Amino acid sequence: MRRKMSLAFTLAFTLVFIFVSGLFAKEGMWIPALLNKNIDEMQQMGFQLSAEDIYSVNHASMKDAVVIFGRGCTGGLISGEGLLITNHHCGYDAIQKHSSIEHDYLTDGFWAMSHEEELPNPGLSVKFLERMEDVTTQVLDGTAEMEEEKIQQKINENIKAIEEAASDSGRFNSIVKPLFYGNQYFLYVYLEYTDVRLVGAPPSAIGKFGGDTDNWMWPRHTGDFSVFRIYAGKDNQPADYSKDNVPYRSKKFFPVSVKGVQPEDFTMIFGFPGSTTQYLSSQAVSMIMGQSDPDRIKIRNKKLEILAARMEADRKIRIQYAAKYATISNSWKRWQGEILGLKRLDAVQKKQDFEADFTAWVSKSEERKDKYGKVLSEFEELYLLIGPYSKARDYYTEIVPNGCDVFRLASLLDRSDMAIENIDREKKELLKRKLLEELESHFKDFDQPTDEKIFTEMLRLYRNDLDKTFLPDDFTVLMDQTDNVRLKEKVYGKSVLIDQEKLAVLVGDMPDKGLKALKNDPVMKLYRLLKEHYDSTVSNVYTDLDGRILKNQKLYMEGILAMKENERVYPDANFTLRVGYGKVEGYEPRDGVHYDYYTTLDGIVEKDNPEIYDYNVPQKLRELYEQKDFGSYSVNGQVPVCFSASNHTTGGNSGSPVINARGELIGVNFDRCWEGTMSDIMFDPDRCRNIVLDIRYALFIIDKLAGAGYLLEEMKKNDE
Ligand code: ARG
Ligand code: GLU
Repeated sequence: MRRKMSLAFTLAFTLVFIFVSGLFAKEGMWIPALLNKNIDEMQQMGFQLSAEDIYSVNHASMKDAVVIFGRGCTGGLISGEGLLITNHHCGYDAIQKHSSIEHDYLTDGFWAMSHEEELPNPGLSVKFLERMEDVTTQVLDGTAEMEEEKIQQKINENIKAIEEAASDSGRFNSIVKPLFYGNQYFLYVYLEYTDVRLVGAPPSAIGKFGGDTDNWMWPRHTGDFSVFRIYAGKDNQPADYSKDNVPYRSKKFFPVSVKGVQPEDFTMIFGFPGSTTQYLSSQAVSMIMGQSDPDRIKIRNKKLEILAARMEADRKIRIQYAAKYATISNSWKRWQGEILGLKRLDAVQKKQDFEADFTAWVSKSEERKDKYGKVLSEFEELYLLIGPYSKARDYYTEIVPNGCDVFRLASLLDRSDMAIENIDREKKELLKRKLLEELESHFKDFDQPTDEKIFTEMLRLYRNDLDKTFLPDDFTVLMDQTDNVRLKEKVYGKSVLIDQEKLAVLVGDMPDKGLKALKNDPVMKLYRLLKEHYDSTVSNVYTDLDGRILKNQKLYMEGILAMKENERVYPDANFTLRVGYGKVEGYEPRDGVHYDYYTTLDGIVEKDNPEIYDYNVPQKLRELYEQKDFGSYSVNGQVPVCFSASNHTTGGNSGSPVINARGELIGVNFDRCWEGTMSDIMFDPDRCRNIVLDIRYALFIIDKLAGAGYLLEEMKKNDE
């Protein structure tokens, strides 16, 4: 009887839960070592494992199967022999470096058919997290009674000591990072493996299918994956590349699920999100939406318009500027989505409402008033002050050091000649050689007519859009008295920075004659004029104000944490290991439109168009489709390609393993949907979706298109 009662009760409880399951949190990037506050919810959502299975310092756990891949991505281990999967766009550099006219792996793809054929990648590494630890007390040790000015220095000293102690004489890579703007500190200890070899990558027409046109968009059909293998010394410890190294014996890896996903299935993402700003004040959000994003979009509109026209007209230019175009357009598109999303959420109003609650909470005690009473008015004042400087900074960053090719080169030369004057001979020669190499790769991707146009148009914007106080008089005069044609003749055309041979001779003559010639070069002179003016009128003031904002933000965060004492609060992303969870689901991008949660090969064939670069499907894939040669990878005659889920992600989560309720790999994260890109600032559970490559599509490509089925033997495939 009792049993029955409790069963009925459980059933009712479950039903209520299902009914309100929309209320489960999907927002949040949680610290794996502190999942005790989340694990109940995760299990109610379907997760079948424990917090210890995700993160443990005593046993092999999922954290041992996730790595920092290269400088800014994540990778997941998929075999006992160090095989790992990440995104195509994360492996892009490595794939490109191995490509030449004879072996065009970018275009044709690459698959090693044996260990011997796997390609080493100097400079590429992966990092395993050994452990993470709250070190707040140690970091703040001895600062309690200190004067304001000395505190930061003491903190830095403490951090250094903690990192050193944890590094075990250099064996580990250890780093202390602030969370919640320095209200908490965590130590992260990594083991870095430097012999990482390329195992395979699909052709770009699969790995980058849809290109910049589909980027940040759902529905999506990109096969964004590549496969690498970690190598180690015979003792399984990190070792620099050697042909005697052996495949790393994985402590833990993800079995692959080929059963596929259903809507509402639990999903978890495990990876390294880079940076978010969820706790900004209303003024900050308003500045981003109203000034920063629009300014940078406007500047990039111009750059992209010029690039697109030139790339359209000439195949060589398309190749030269493909990577630059992709980089410029990636954030440009995200910012546009961000503004729309923040507007639709009425984000500034929401922040103001929260600030009103905060003020009410503060007013309830004298102690709170003392501590936090001025925080919000301080923001008001500081953002008013920083606004114009922030604008000047955005323009400078977009137009001067990163504006056009010659300015990028000027910035490089400006930095190197400083160094070359002050170092000994041997180092000088080394530096020169490096510089010459950089010139080589710079000029390989340089097209003068393209760059010239960007140069003049960017300077026009700089002159017209910025307040005169932020511009050197000589520059204003130059721009007002010179039209674009003359500007090209007088400045650009007379510079040695557009002539590889002459420039190489000058670099060879450094520091003596070379430096003098560069001092008088018209582009170098203009670059330095703008830089010096920026340093003396913008940068210093900006840095000071920004420092004050950060200090105030720390206090605000402290208040928020105190106010939400009984709620779960997650720290902003800071490129450390985090867990996000949610479910497989589509969404409604706008009124009357519903997006399904998955895409298939049918959609690739629908988009197929040999005339359009981004949609030119490889012939082999067309054939597989026509012959319906899908192996065991199709469901009802369709090969799954991508799915969307409600996991809170950001840049850095690229390549992150996406895991089902049983801890099996169901996909690889690579993007977010456009309507949800504001999630870096404010998350909306209705429209924020991450975009995931369905692992079955990767398996299909490896098996059927690449003929590298032997790799599949190595993986552990569950539920077949
Ligand atoms: N939007 C994704 C990310 O932020 C993919 C970028 C690479 N792809 C591209 N077409 N640019 O990294
Ligand atoms: N593509 C992004 C990256 O490379 C991930 C997408 C996002 O920002 O969510 O990290």
